[in-house]
Parts: sequence; C-alpha cells; structure tokens
Amino acid sequence: MHVDNVLATIGNTPLIHLQRAAAHLPCKVFAKVESFNPGHSAKDRIALYMIEQAERSGHLRPGGTIIEATSGNTGFSIAMISAIKGYRCILTLTSKASQEKISLLKSMGAEVVVCPVEVDPEDPRSYYSVAHRMSEDIPNSFYLAQNFNGDNAEAHYRSTGPEIWAQTQGKITHYVCCAGTGGTLSGTARFLKEQNPAIQIIGVDAYGSVLTKFWETGEYDPNEIKPYKVEGLGKNIIPHNMAFELVDQFIKVTDKDSAVVARELARKEALMMGYSSGSALQAVFQIADQLSKDDVVVVLFSDHGSRYLGKIYNDEWMYDQGWLETPQAMIPDVKGEQAPQPEQIMPSQASYTYMISYEALVDRYKKYYRTYRMKYRKYIRQTRQNLGL
Ligand SMILES: Cc1ncc(COP(=O)(O)O)c(C=O)c1O
Repeated sequence: MHVDNVLATIGNTPLIHLQRAAAHLPCKVFAKVESFNPGHSAKDRIALYMIEQAERSGHLRPGGTIIEATSGNTGFSIAMISAIKGYRCILTLTSKASQEKISLLKSMGAEVVVCPVEVDPEDPRSYYSVAHRMSEDIPNSFYLAQNFNGDNAEAHYRSTGPEIWAQTQGKITHYVCCAGTGGTLSGTARFLKEQNPAIQIIGVDAYGSVLTKFWETGEYDPNEIKPYKVEGLGKNIIPHNMAFELVDQFIKVTDKDSAVVARELARKEALMMGYSSGSALQAVFQIADQLSKDDVVVVLFSDHGSRYLGKIYNDEWMYDQGWLETPQAMIPDVKGEQAPQPEQIMPSQASYTYMISYEALVDRYKKYYRTYRMKYRKYIRQTRQNLGL
C-alpha cells in the first residue's frame, strides 16, 4: 500500500483515550490528536481545503503564488502543500517569529517576509497589510486569509466533524476545542450538532481575548485585550469563522494552567502536545463538575509540542515565568559531582517540580561557574578587555 504524496496523509487522525491524564474525571475523555497530520497540526486540513477550493473556483491557477500572513502552523501547512503542488509560497511573519520557525518554513521552499511586530494591524508595514499588498501586486496570486475565509470552517465540517462522529459511534456528548480563528471549533461543531443537537460545544478561550465577552454580551470590548502567552487560542478581533451561536459555553484558561497541564499530559500519556492542547485539557478539568459517568468527551489537541521546546518544555522558561519552583533541571551536570539520590528528590504537590535547598542550589551554581571559568578563560579575558574592565 502506498500513497501518491504526503498530502494524502492529511486527516483521519486518531482518537486516543486519555486513561491516565483524565483518570480523575467521572467519564471517558478522548483526544483527537491533530499532530498526526503530516504538518503536525489541524491547519493541514484547512490549508489543503482552502487551496483546493481556490483552484476549483479559478482564483488560483497553475504556477500561481499563495500568500498568507501567519506566524504559526498555517504557514507550515501552506509551505508543505505549495511544495507538492508547485506553487510559489510567500509568508509574512512578524519580527517576533523565532529563527527556528523561519528556517522551518524555508526548508520547504517558502519565501519569508519579516515585518515589524510593534505596529497596528492597519499599519502599511504590518504583516497583514504587507500580505494584502503583495496579493494585489503579484499576478495570479491568492491570499488565503484564514480568519475570514469561510472554507476554513468548512474544511472541519467536511473532515474533523465526520471523523469524530464515526470514531465515537455517535456517542460523543461534549466537544471541547480551542477558539482562535474559530474554524476548528465551528466547522466541527456544525457537523456534530446536525447529528445530535444535544452535544455540548465548549469553546476554550484565553484571558486577554475578546471572544468570551462577545459570546456573553454581543459586545466587542477592546478593554478585554491583554497580552498572554498561549499561542493559537483567543483573538483581538471577531473572526468571521467563529460561529458563536453553536457554542454552549466558553471557558477561559490561564497561561500557567495550560503550560502545567500540557507538561503533565506529556508525562502521563506520552502525548507531547502544543501549548493550546494544555489549555483544551485544562478546560475539560474546569467543567469536571458538569460531567457524569455516561458522558463521552472529545477534546481536540491542535498541534505537536516540538514547536514549543523553547517555551513550555523548557524548564528555564517555566522557571522564569514563576511556574516551576526551582530551575533544577537546567543545572548542567558537572564532572565529579554526585547526582542527587532518589531520596533527595522529593516531589512537591505538582509532579513537575522538585524540592532542593537554597544552599545546595548555590553550591551547584558555584561549581558550574568554576568549571565554566576554567574552560572559557581566554574568552572571558578577551571580553573583559573589550569592555575595558
Ligand atoms: C496551536 C493552535 N491551537 C489552536 C488554534 C485555534 O484553531 P482555530 O484557528 O481553528 O480556531 C490554533 C490556530 O491558529 C493553533 O495554531
């Protein structure tokens, strides 16, 4: 058995029973694990569908150019599809994007335009404006615009919804999903509600996003907008793809809970998922008192954790946020130093932290500094000279 190319492997992701991470809940919880897509996220589905719809409608013709403003998973999916289908791919990113992310996109032939992060979306220099302008200037180009392109939600209506319905044999009672553009939540929810209107649709949102307030009051309140760390969920605009009428409940989750739960998920289920997957599972925990024995919960995990190695899976970063008690795991092994004995490692309340005394910590740092100093004497001398010390 073989497939023609990697695009044939998009979709049909597994539904995995969370037997350990959700063991304390009264019902079964299943995860729809979207990292099994070849581009490691749910965005493969929408990118492929939006591009093929543009081909069908004649907006995109052979040899054309695909343009999108994206710093995340959608860019990766578009780059992958463009490489297979032979399109030129231009992605505009903000200067916040890491070098790793840029390299990832370039590896599949995408052209990357880095735009300043500190400007308003309407500013001609913003990554939205630049993408829009390029789509007007470049002949036979197509700007996907995932926030406003209705084919985003449609892709999930046609694939994710039917898959979940079949995989649960129609027994699903709750669907829990992060809301960003709203495509994954709305498209899937529309299909599920058509099969059984009693299915509860739970949208997951971030503190600092306008979505929950808009759903509650119908009011777009810019005062709700605040910076937050989780990537992918929440918005500072009202995206066209968000079908608020399908949502039964919005749950807000914190940056910290999302990070901690994602890390626990990796340890307990060996599912190393993205930051927003931690948010989605945390939302399930927050509705625990609404669940009963016969319920069947499906929670959608949007992407893979490998994109967050510098953040939630980095102990130093977690420590800097104040979410890890000690940076123990970031202390390198020093030759001759005895590794801590198991009885010295006392798990605190949360399984991801270790207790270590302050003195022991200082001691470890001193040893590390001494080794470092000896090894890099020459560079330190040079640096001191350069600084005139
Ligand atoms: C990691 C991650 N989680 C969740 C979402 C939200 O999905 P949607 O845009 O379909 O609402 C996104 C979207 O960008 C994402 O990248």
